[in-house]
Amino acid sequence: MTQWTIDSLEDTHQVAVAFSADLKAGDVICLFGEMGAGKTTFVSSLVAGLGSEDWVSSPTFSLVQEYQGRLPVRHLDLYRLQGSELGLMDIDRYLDFPQGVIVIEWPDQLGQRLSDRWIKLSIEVLDGDCRRITRLI
Ligand SMILES: Nc1ncnc2c1ncn2[C@@H]1O[C@H](COP(=O)(O)OP(=O)(O)OP(=O)(O)O)[C@@H](O)[C@H]1O
Ligand SMILES: [Mg+2]
Repeated sequence: MTQWTIDSLEDTHQVAVAFSADLKAGDVICLFGEMGAGKTTFVSSLVAGLGSEDWVSSPTFSLVQEYQGRLPVRHLDLYRLQGSELGLMDIDRYLDFPQGVIVIEWPDQLGQRLSDRWIKLSIEVLDGDCRRITRLI
């Protein structure tokens, strides 16, 4: 288990950039953490670390966004998804992205589709700008 204790937004950026350096095509990263923990912030730095200059926002209305870089990143935010919609929207199609990296906010929404093979990070708010990021697997 790897863990980083972070004091500032800038530290989160550095951890995410360092983390992105080891990513390879086909990796899937689940980001666990409460609302406002810093999941989207982490994705933004990860995308920058992979060499994209795109601006990362919460894919509030689109559910999925893609960014180009050394590796393309597909960013899913499943917060608003109802369980019953998973089949309807054919989520498996979005999870099929062997050419790049997938990052998923609110991955619990996937239920049984969550794979043991995926990387799982949890972001906890400690106090103010402090966070604890734990690599669960
Ligand atoms: N060390 C830190 N790491 C990450 N975010 C931080 C940190 N310190 C402060 N913040 C602030 O916390 C907020 C995190 O918001 P962000 O949208 O990234 O959260 P989220 O986990 O994606 O939330 P949601 O579940 O609503 O999508 C931002 O306003 C960010 O500036
Ligand atoms: Mg978010």
